[in-house]
Amino acid sequence: MFIDIQNLSFTYSNSSMKAINDISFTVEKGEVISILGRSGSGKSTILRIIAGLEMPNGGSFILNGKKIMDTRTFIQPEKRGIGMVFQDYALFPHMNVEENILFGLSKMSRNDKKKRTNEVLELVELEGFEKRYPHQLSGGQQQRVALARAIAPEPDLILLDEPFSNLDTDLQVKIRGDLRRILKKANTTAIFVTHNVNDAHALADRIVKIKDGKIEKIGRPCDLLGLSTSELPSTVEKASEELLTV
Ligand SMILES: Nc1ncnc2c1ncn2[C@@H]1O[C@H](COP(=O)(O)OP(=O)(O)OP(=O)(O)O)[C@@H](O)[C@H]1O
Ligand SMILES: [Mg+2]
Repeated sequence: MFIDIQNLSFTYSNSSMKAINDISFTVEKGEVISILGRSGSGKSTILRIIAGLEMPNGGSFILNGKKIMDTRTFIQPEKRGIGMVFQDYALFPHMNVEENILFGLSKMSRNDKKKRTNEVLELVELEGFEKRYPHQLSGGQQQRVALARAIAPEPDLILLDEPFSNLDTDLQVKIRGDLRRILKKANTTAIFVTHNVNDAHALADRIVKIKDGKIEKIGRPCDLLGLSTSELPSTVEKASEELLTV
């Protein structure tokens, strides 16, 4: 299996409560996983540990056959081969689209960099936007640039933390469709965090549902919601409500 996470536990130093408690799950290559849970349930904390921004109190993490973290190992964040897209997209405001994407491609030759930049811009359907600055783009376009920048170095894994939270509802629906298409086309393994059941349902191959720092359920969206994916959105919405109130 591509990702093997076992028994992660973590307590913030200024707190007495476990933010996450004995989290274990696995992910296959190319799979899109959603971590779903209410505010404060520990979703971002899990991503921060996977990214290497926090050191857990216990547990292990293997990525693509490589031991990334356990009681004796801790690979630094920049050496993990993990791309990240966070809530506020965090594009560099003083760099145009092309420069933002080139930023992560330091090890390539000039020609390869240019080729890869064109490839990822095509993937996110933003050809021709190379010279635009972030403030000259819509929220959804900025989101796609952030995704292109994360995908460009071909990371083993992409982490997305509430990537749609700054967008209005129409754009959210469009972007989440785009996102799934882009991730699948690039065969990128992804873990994305959301508190929105509809996002999880639309995007994920499997959902890891967490509550108070613990895993409550893991399963395919249709299994967790008790629905087939072809059912009416309103039915999904209703079932989603029920899922979150469990
Ligand atoms: N730096 C910190 N120091 C202390 N406690 C923290 C810190 N960051 C988060 N927490 C606590 O850890 C728990 C999990 O927080 P986390 O940010 O992982 O939640 P979340 O599921 O991502 O929530 P949201 O949906 O609101 O982003 C919460 O109780 C939170 O208050
Ligand atoms: Mg969070």
